[in-house]
Amino acid sequence: MKRAYIETYGCQMNISDSELIAGILAEQGFVATDKPDDADVILVNTCAIRDHAEQRVIGRVGQLQQYRREGALIGVTGCMAQRMGESLLGRAGGVDLVMGPDAYRQLPDKLEEVAAKRTPARSLPLAFGSHAPQQPRGLTVLGFDPHENYEGVAAKRISTVSAWVPIQRGCNYRCTYCIVPYVRGDEKNRDPLAILDEVRALAQDGVPEVTLLGQTVNSYEHGGWDFPRLLREVARVDGIRRVRFISPHPNDFTRELVEVMATEPAVCKQLHLPVQSGHNRTLKRMLRRYTVEEYLEKIAWVREAMPHVALSTDVIVAFPGETDEEYEGTLELMRSVRYDDAFLYKYSERDGTPATRLPRDQFVPDEVGQARLERLIATHRAIQAEIYAAEVGRIEEVLVEKEGRRGGLQGRTESNKVVTFEGPVELIGGFAEVRLSSTSGATFSGELVGALAAA
Ligand code: SAH
Ligand code: SF4
Ligand code: F3S
Repeated sequence: MKRAYIETYGCQMNISDSELIAGILAEQGFVATDKPDDADVILVNTCAIRDHAEQRVIGRVGQLQQYRREGALIGVTGCMAQRMGESLLGRAGGVDLVMGPDAYRQLPDKLEEVAAKRTPARSLPLAFGSHAPQQPRGLTVLGFDPHENYEGVAAKRISTVSAWVPIQRGCNYRCTYCIVPYVRGDEKNRDPLAILDEVRALAQDGVPEVTLLGQTVNSYEHGGWDFPRLLREVARVDGIRRVRFISPHPNDFTRELVEVMATEPAVCKQLHLPVQSGHNRTLKRMLRRYTVEEYLEKIAWVREAMPHVALSTDVIVAFPGETDEEYEGTLELMRSVRYDDAFLYKYSERDGTPATRLPRDQFVPDEVGQARLERLIATHRAIQAEIYAAEVGRIEEVLVEKEGRRGGLQGRTESNKVVTFEGPVELIGGFAEVRLSSTSGATFSGELVGALAAA
């Protein structure tokens, strides 16, 4: 029996891909292990979105070399594997397999192929340890497959409470800062009937919450189905109590989608709508294809239909050419929307993306970018703390996910806020009524009021 250990970086799409990889390996008799120590195969499923994400992976692959010297194979999969290709083989001490996001069905075969090439280091006398023979060169499996949606692969999911359900792979936008289209290829959408079958099977297994995934999830379209229709059908599956989706693109965000969100009880009244910048000139250079006014109009539709909706967003500061005035526009937007949560980033230059060709003399110096980021984080945190403080005292329905890191239980409210509270572990997987008793500013502590029967 071969043991596989998978470590995942990046977005929910990549976490979901790791669950597909685990499913593919399990079908071939691999057993999952949660430590690299006793693994025969170590996979690092990587992200390429910012330089920092890649540096972490290089460092980690270096650390993992100790297991490779003892005979384990190291594979690097995902977006960074697709981006760096061949050149990864010799990095950080060496990698046996480099595989892009469309090739995972070949994983068992390719692992066997590299294993056959390798000298079993474990059988060498100990004295040879430090002079181990050169490892043979690894394999790369790259390239896009316009039809690969991993249909028929049974994902091996980590959580039994909340499931990621990919409905789309790739991206047809070309935001000028973004590497995703170049490492994941063009948009491809899954068959809606296969998605619904998967959701029904999850519900039958007792999973009450699903999150539909895609890079621009609401641009989904397949044989006459659009995203609002798919969302409505998913929300109506028996046993599914909560449906979320990430990430919608503002351009594909329609009144019809708002209508489905507002009228389907299972769709959480929570929306992550990435804005990226609060100034039209920046948005234009980013090729986001909407204006601040259009974005705010859509936010207004949402709030009108769902007054208590929780909003979150993504923002990039210090995009090339961002002036003080443009940056102030972003601060202003954050103050006017008042997001419950926000993921705030400093621009990171990605080779091969269109933004690298913007005038060099307009690139924002790193210290300016850092200061802008810190000020934006402080502005957002203050707003977030106010929003959270105003919710203290409320009784919320919490989906109990797991034991908390510091004891007790941990779950989420409908608005996707994390709550920890004391209660019996039997509650995990079910809903509980919890009074929000205090807040750290970004999470809540609560008191159990009562367990709720399953619907
Ligand atoms: N497809 C999603 C986002 C994918 S990447 C969408 O369109 O919303 C997640 C976030 O990373 C983006 O929303 C953006 O805020 C950030 N990001 C992407 N490329 C970046 C870069 N080059 N530098 C800094 N942040 C980046
Ligand atoms: Fe990247 Fe833009 Fe596509 Fe999102 S929509 S993945 S930011 S190119
Ligand atoms: Fe990263 Fe790839 Fe996701 S680049 S953000 S893991 S799609």
